[in-house]
Amino acid sequence: MDWNQLESEIKEVFRGDASGHDAAHTLRVANLARAIAREEGADEELCRLAALLHDVDDWKLVGGAMGQSTRARALMARHHIGKDTQEQVVGIIASVSFKGTDSVVPPTLEGKVVQDADRLDAIGAIGVARAFAYGGAHGRVMYDPEIPPRPDMDEKAYMANRGTTINHFYEKLLLLGDMMQTAAGKTIAASRHAYLKAFLEEFLAEWQGNR
Ligand code: ADP
Ligand code: NI
Repeated sequence: MDWNQLESEIKEVFRGDASGHDAAHTLRVANLARAIAREEGADEELCRLAALLHDVDDWKLVGGAMGQSTRARALMARHHIGKDTQEQVVGIIASVSFKGTDSVVPPTLEGKVVQDADRLDAIGAIGVARAFAYGGAHGRVMYDPEIPPRPDMDEKAYMANRGTTINHFYEKLLLLGDMMQTAAGKTIAASRHAYLKAFLEEFLAEWQGNR
């Protein structure tokens, strides 16, 4: 397995993305997934591979055709990954994504590891930055106190939602801490969750322009 080659192909897929889905996100998730996998006794290579491929077919990048994993399969075929491993990876990828109240707990340990790693990159300082990058790229306003957050949307409502970036904190980011599936993930999430809350508190305190 030529990991360097796969990583350069991944960088090519995400080239130029400024919506929070850049290659750096994928590489961080792969690193986190490997670290968590070692702590949890999961299959590190499988976690690394699934993490590297987890966003290459994302609906926000590719549009439509969700769950087909076309690009992930093509990349794996090019690297002569066996059919069984390909199916395991596709299964992991299908189970990791956040879909509001329709999100699932991955059935395998490796799925749990990759899901935790992906979600950890959506909270903490990087998570704050990614949320505003996403909001800007999609023309969302940062905050509007007149638009209330909707924290319990199902998959359809979550995907159709066009709310503010601050609402996204209440609709997704603040929920992630309690959704961690591994012990290592929970430990890392605790400080990142606290950071998110502190950020929000400061943001809202500054919002009115009072001194
Ligand atoms: P996942 O990889 O769990 O499916 P997404 O692809 O939904 O996560 O999100 C990728 C990044 O974009 C995350 O950092 C997420 O917080 C951010 N993001 C997604 N939707 C929104 C939104 N409506 N407003 C702000 N940020 C968003
Ligand atoms: Ni991701």
